[in-house]
Amino acid sequence: MLLWEETLFKDRDLFELDYLPEHFLHREAQMNSLKFCVRPALQGSRPVNALCLGPPGTGKTTAIFKLFEEIEAHSSKVVPVHVNCQMDSTRYAVFYQLYTKIFGHSPPSSGISFKRIFEKVARHSAEKDAVLIVALDDVNYLFHEKEVDHVLYSLLRAHETCPGARMGVIAILSEPALNYVLDPRVVSVFQAEEILFPLYTRAEIREILGWRVKMGFYPKVISEDVLEMVTDYTEMSGDLRVGIDLLKRSGLSAEKRASKTVSPEDVKNSYERSRLVHLTYALKSLKKDELCVLRLAAEHESSRAGEIFSRFHEETGAGYTRFHEILNKLDAVRLITTDFSGAGERGRSRIIRMRYDPKEILCRIGS
Ligand SMILES: Nc1ncnc2c1ncn2[C@@H]1O[C@H](COP(=O)(O)OP(=O)(O)OP(=O)(O)O)[C@@H](O)[C@H]1O
Ligand SMILES: [Mg+2]
Repeated sequence: MLLWEETLFKDRDLFELDYLPEHFLHREAQMNSLKFCVRPALQGSRPVNALCLGPPGTGKTTAIFKLFEEIEAHSSKVVPVHVNCQMDSTRYAVFYQLYTKIFGHSPPSSGISFKRIFEKVARHSAEKDAVLIVALDDVNYLFHEKEVDHVLYSLLRAHETCPGARMGVIAILSEPALNYVLDPRVVSVFQAEEILFPLYTRAEIREILGWRVKMGFYPKVISEDVLEMVTDYTEMSGDLRVGIDLLKRSGLSAEKRASKTVSPEDVKNSYERSRLVHLTYALKSLKKDELCVLRLAAEHESSRAGEIFSRFHEETGAGYTRFHEILNKLDAVRLITTDFSGAGERGRSRIIRMRYDPKEILCRIGS
């Protein structure tokens, strides 16, 4: 039996999703490609742009953090900035982050124009001989209103308005390909080296999770059999996050029973919640009217956009522009699929499809 103050976790932080693993296994090739891209920056010139592609939970964000850690340790002339586009989803917000990173504080007044922020950032790069490397993580959140074109254009043509400014971009996308048609003026400057992050194999998943277990739990808490089971579930979902979350929940579940070991039942019971880490996360970011469209789309699976819009309009009174925006966002956060990424098509006859079982969605948004 566990005493009430006892725990099975040696270090519970290791199971938080933003934990940066010390051992980053099976990503040597991708790390080498990334280093190849940023090498010119370390020598004072413009880096090669990169585009990291691959399914969720395949180490893309982790690779960038690892790379940036190394750059910061080796050079003060290269300024790496990681932008989470889910939070900073406009050109203004992105440059606000760059400014904050460069100067160590946010811009002086909240009313400052984009142009002023841009100039300060670009001038700093030119005058201080600093090369900026901007990672646009989850860049799909910039696909609405062509923000991504504005961001890339501003970053990659900065030297035209501010000679000497040097910036490079690493775009990151949880898809197998860039399913967005970039503006031709951007294409000419964003010639990105594609770096693919394939799904981990079963053996790789087992080894990665094995390390977490070794570092995060006390010995003998997780048996070989239980680790195999967690590996199976993780492989099924394809997302390493599911495995990490599952280890945490199973550990907590065993603690609750005051058991010193995690049992297969702990794993089985926790899986229901862990497999939907993504869905839960995505739903949290939605506003009320966005949830409304999602609910309607789930209630009327595979309906045409026009039909969903009529119902949405009836319920909320909102117009088509807002509806179109919401569809874009739900597509970007990968809750639904439509076929309009990039083409700018507004057709009401498009079919809206759910990426999750509509029942799962409906029971989570309390309808
Ligand atoms: N090779 C690895 N070794 C150890 N841990 C890893 C490895 N790859 C991924 N992880 C862990 O898996 C989790 C997900 O990784 P990460 O956030 O890098 O995925 P991602 O590819 O950016 O996913 P998404 O597309 O959903 O943003 C993180 O908690 C990370 O620590
Ligand atoms: Mg990521």
